[in-house]
Amino acid sequence: MERAYDKDAFKQLISEEEIKDKVKELGEQISQDYQGQEVIAVGVLKGSFVFAADLLRQLSIPNEIDFLAVSSYGASTKSSGIIRILKDLDTSIENKHVLIVEDIVDTGLTLNYLLETLSTRKPASLKICTLLDKPDRREVDLTPDYIGFQIPDLFVVGYGLDYAEYYRDWPAIYVLPEEDE
Ligand code: XMP
Ligand code: MG
Repeated sequence: MERAYDKDAFKQLISEEEIKDKVKELGEQISQDYQGQEVIAVGVLKGSFVFAADLLRQLSIPNEIDFLAVSSYGASTKSSGIIRILKDLDTSIENKHVLIVEDIVDTGLTLNYLLETLSTRKPASLKICTLLDKPDRREVDLTPDYIGFQIPDLFVVGYGLDYAEYYRDWPAIYVLPEEDE
């Protein structure tokens, strides 16, 4: 690969410690809000797999996890706006409290599509939890119910987020060098 797999060439935006604290806080808030209920977390692959795994372990309410995959940007950092389900849920969400778990909300087009699609399946409730939010780039009116961090319009990688499939394993969030000014 051309890009060096070297953290020193990247600017760290959010540290491992900050993420850990925030995920704990989100888990506590969600557990409080869903008290007496069960929740099914729906992780949006692939980006959310790290966040979903950590978030679930901070919940103190009964929970299930399922995943779906939507078409991604490929190796580009810009959204095409065309969204397709590549892998659907394994289980029915009818009458269940559904919490969509996302890595990042950018234009909002992906989540807008998922909200529309999943709401037709008659869940008891449908909410969104995202680790990162880039409100500057929003193209549809959409506000996630739970937000870890609001970030500026930068392309970020790490903690599940990729560029051309790399860097998902890095434990903190970094800015892609070209966009780091
Ligand atoms: P939209 O624009 O539909 O996009 O809200 C959501 C999806 O776009 C990807 N995305 C990113 N992935 N770094 C990434 O690694 C980023 O800065 C970034 N911004 C958007 C991501 O897959 C997200 O689910
Ligand atoms: Mg994603």
